[in-house]
Amino acid sequence: MRLLVTGAGGQLATDLMLLVPGRPAFGSAVAYGIDQLDITDAAAVRTVLAREADRGDLVVVNAAAWTDVDGAEAKEEAAYAVNATASAHLAAACAEVGAPLVYVSTDYVFAGDRPPEGPAYTPDDEPDPRTAYGRTKLAGERAVRELLPDRSWVVRTAWVYGPGRNFVATMTRLAGERETLTVVDDQRGSPTWSRDLAAGLLELLEKRPAPGVLHATGGGETTWYGLARATFAELGLDAERVQPTSSAAYASATPRPAYSVLSGAAWAAAGLTPLPHWTVALANARREPGAVPGYSRAV
Ligand SMILES: NC(=O)c1ccc[n+]([C@@H]2O[C@H](COP(=O)([O-])OP(=O)(O)OC[C@H]3O[C@@H](n4cnc5c(N)ncnc54)[C@H](OP(=O)(O)O)[C@@H]3O)[C@@H](O)[C@H]2O)c1
Repeated sequence: MRLLVTGAGGQLATDLMLLVPGRPAFGSAVAYGIDQLDITDAAAVRTVLAREADRGDLVVVNAAAWTDVDGAEAKEEAAYAVNATASAHLAAACAEVGAPLVYVSTDYVFAGDRPPEGPAYTPDDEPDPRTAYGRTKLAGERAVRELLPDRSWVVRTAWVYGPGRNFVATMTRLAGERETLTVVDDQRGSPTWSRDLAAGLLELLEKRPAPGVLHATGGGETTWYGLARATFAELGLDAERVQPTSSAAYASATPRPAYSVLSGAAWAAAGLTPLPHWTVALANARREPGAVPGYSRAV
């Protein structure tokens, strides 16, 4: 297999490329950043996929996305162009060359208004996005499944941290800048190390379960407050420096889902290895040089 990853430089794309050398099923891999392949350029997408398909048995992971949630609210059309229209370009080009495609999506496709005790969202639950970001990602999911029904997987994930801008990196930075922090304790989800998600996506492409929608996040669940405290603890800092607050007290341009827990049952039923528990992943990421800016050991 030859793996083509879009969105090179992003968290997930970076970790995918890091893991490929250890997976013999992938003979080669190439990652295109926005400078080499802007996925909103339909002609460029067709040209690159045709060229890459000539070089091997091509599989594609679309790790390119507009991930700025607040920015999407202000510029929904621009976010739609990347998350929906461009994903359709990729799916159409994959259909032309016969390549399978993984589209990575998000908990934001759901309303996120379930009570803290759940139940966790399954792939069969009806999406009901409440944000521009969620709407554009859902439109991308639907385009991909429609254009490539027999060879595509939509994999929804949540609360991703890795080699980029993310919550764990931010908490690490703030730990050095402030004596105490207040963090919301009324939004629940499952932190997901991008390295674990990358491993899961590679396994998916190796095993090729039935096409459709799957959920993949770190195991277990917590709140942002819980994740902040755990990050401090991993750093050897006093977790009491992190204090809880409510979403109502925390001004945000875009409403965040209160409940983002995604069920991994369909993932496991498809024969795929559940991602490690979020606490295990947080400890692993701390030990892995350069995995998360500031948080992990220096490279
Ligand atoms: N991060 C999360 O918490 C989270 C949660 C749920 C789901 N997801 C999904 O997981 C996937 C991977 O997320 P991530 O955290 O790795 O995102 P990321 O770090 O923001 O990476 C996305 C990459 O896509 C690139 N990109 C943007 N527009 C592009 C275009 N038109 N053509 C080509 N590349 C483009 C970005 O480049 P620039 O940086 O130059 O814009 C960036 O390098 C995304 O589909 C995202 O929606 C993420």
